[in-house]
Amino acid sequence: MRFRSFVMFVSWVACVGGFADAAFAYPGGTPAFQTDAAPFCASCHSSRSLEALAGAPDDRATKELAENKHIPLILAGEGGYAKLAPAQREELASHVRALDQASTVSMTAPAKVKLGEEFTVTVELTGGAGPAIGVALVDAAHRWQARPAPGAGWFVVKPPTVLGQDFKEQLDWLGRRGGDRNLSFVNVTGIHSDASTQEWGRAQVAWTLRATAAGKRPLAAAYWYGTEKASPQGVYEDPIRGKLLRGGFAGHSGRILFSDVVVIEVTP
Ligand code: HEC
Repeated sequence: MRFRSFVMFVSWVACVGGFADAAFAYPGGTPAFQTDAAPFCASCHSSRSLEALAGAPDDRATKELAENKHIPLILAGEGGYAKLAPAQREELASHVRALDQASTVSMTAPAKVKLGEEFTVTVELTGGAGPAIGVALVDAAHRWQARPAPGAGWFVVKPPTVLGQDFKEQLDWLGRRGGDRNLSFVNVTGIHSDASTQEWGRAQVAWTLRATAAGKRPLAAAYWYGTEKASPQGVYEDPIRGKLLRGGFAGHSGRILFSDVVVIEVTP
């Protein structure tokens, strides 16, 4: 038992940033995981709306809002924010709010398709602190219930076309997966936002899909992004580990946001 606890502690340290490479392993996106992801994984992240956790017990949906889960910790100077003077905390909170306002996700999809027909769905994203953002196609705008689109009758025909902030096509992240690259989740890299100069990231991901079942079927885009790295107050330099987040690896500065749900009619 003691040995197990030690092993768990070591793995935790490895994850939480004991090593330079791992320090930004969720902050920084998921550079090493090339597979479909679902929003429930982002338990540390905060929500932007109550609907994202509709039906959750007690006041859980309210607690998950960024204005309750993240911003008050900054303003109260808790944990890593204690190193900031009150005026710097105000500045960080206002940069984070501005970044949130500038961060959007929308999806364009046809209203009607034929069973087996190939069609394109385009997701447009803005904001995100960078250096990476995560984007997925899911079947619901819900943190705990959304599942990857392929599980809901949408077959991803080929690798999505990923355009980064420079609107050039990116192949690196998907390229790390041998074999099939027709994933419903991707990381977009090279994203940069700076709330102090009002510069915001942008990206576009286009998926080619084929419906595998008839009927009216829902589809939405999920957007994972960070906020603190978009503020000069949100990061600091550690002599050994390099650039680190004020709120820390297990902080609540990540967000999970959804596009509107589109119900597509699949005709036989
Ligand atoms: C241990 C806490 C934690 C968990 C669990 C977590 N994240 Fe995060 N994640 C963060 C934090 C903190 C940030 C925000 C960085 C910032 O504020 O700039 C973040 C940011 C991100 C970003 C944007 C990258 C960046 O640096 O801004 C992506 C993409 C992301 N997370 C994906 C995921 C995915 C996918 C999962 C589930 C597999 C997940 N996260 C689970 C803590 C977590």
